[in-house]
Amino acid sequence: SNKINIAIDGHSSTGKSTSARRLAHELGYLFVDTGAMYRAISYFALRENLITDQQLNTEKLIEELPGISINFQRNPETHINEVYLNGENVEKEIRTLEVSNVVSIIASVSEVRAKLVEQQQAMGKNKGLVMDGRDIGTVVFPDAELKVFMTAAADVRAQRRYDELKERGDDVDYQQVLENVLERDEIDSTREDSPLRQADDAMLLDTSTMNREQQFEQLMHWANQAI
Ligand code: C5P
Repeated sequence: SNKINIAIDGHSSTGKSTSARRLAHELGYLFVDTGAMYRAISYFALRENLITDQQLNTEKLIEELPGISINFQRNPETHINEVYLNGENVEKEIRTLEVSNVVSIIASVSEVRAKLVEQQQAMGKNKGLVMDGRDIGTVVFPDAELKVFMTAAADVRAQRRYDELKERGDDVDYQQVLENVLERDEIDSTREDSPLRQADDAMLLDTSTMNREQQFEQLMHWANQAI
């Protein structure tokens, strides 16, 4: 059968990654979490003190970009494609609230986007890919055979993110998580370069009242129609 590319975009903490990963697994496709790539660059910027108090030294970051390499490598135990920054596994480090608090600022830098989009397009040129992000259906793969735009009520999304962070043992405050979710959506939707928006030909999936199983079933249904 013919392989296709599947673009999954949407707001923060809608269940995108979880459902997209499972969909890729079921189809035997490659799953790429593009948020992890923006997060890895954000982690780099934090570690190198290129961003403090949400003030980014944009010039310096752009200067450092050619020396930053982001890769994915499959963990043989969990089968999860984990993200590497210059050869170092940073899968855990990129999931903190500290990184979440600056990632939208980093992701609004055009030079950062150009670098990552080029790499993402190369990964999809042979098809058979499920990619999740904010601009996959609009910018990275405007010709993707299936596009889905996922959303959910803000309080539902914040609660999901909060539970996830708590489960990892992070000491977080629900209100802080809610604010971060809302702030990221605001910055992501209003930035000049590749703002978050539903592509005209994307299927809308509101997961407010859907559990993981139901989300997956819907995606699988659309994927089977597209393939
Ligand atoms: O998907 P995740 O929540 O990990 O994404 C983190 C952030 O990375 C988003 O809030 C957004 O600012 C940025 N991002 C982006 N374009 C993508 C994927 C993520 O701008 N394709």
